Amino acid sequence: MDITFSVNGERAHVDVEPRRTLADALREDCGLTGTHLGCEHGVCGACTVLVDGEPVRACLMFAVQADGSSITTIEGLQGPDGELHPLQEAFVEHHGLQCGFCTPGMLMSGLHLLDTEPDADRERIRAEMSGNICRCTGYQASSTPSRPRRRPSTGRRASPRRRSRGSA
Ligand code: FES
Ligand code: FES
Repeated sequence: MDITFSVNGERAHVDVEPRRTLADALREDCGLTGTHLGCEHGVCGACTVLVDGEPVRACLMFAVQADGSSITTIEGLQGPDGELHPLQEAFVEHHGLQCGFCTPGMLMSGLHLLDTEPDADRERIRAEMSGNICRCTGYQASSTPSRPRRRPSTGRRASPRRRSRGSA
């Protein structure tokens, strides 16, 4: 099936089987491998992306369901010159990652929380981030950066890398 969506501000066109997950479409058809796959059962949160501004487990969503949507992946957080997003900087500053496998999902969940509840307290942050599993760090370290000194904004997310994609 031919589907079209916007990913990180760029239009993407892919030809996918109906059973293809959004995660696989992003990784394999769009080359956006920053979206990681851990459990592939909707448990770990590593595959979290924003679809029309809402966090979604990309391993549980079929790509065809994203037809016409606007998607933000971890790649969309970089600035125009490739600089890190303030939330990424905060993760680095507060040692919020070790191997980094879970980090894209953590960042997308954290970004959504900051955009929707900018004044969330630590307890609320912990509750929201509890949907993302990390096998390396203490969760203390990965929840602290979600209160960065500089206010992140999804408005900085778009740093287009690809114009459009042909059929797979
Ligand atoms: S890979 Fe999607 S929730 Fe774990
Ligand atoms: S930093 Fe390794 S899984 Fe979270």
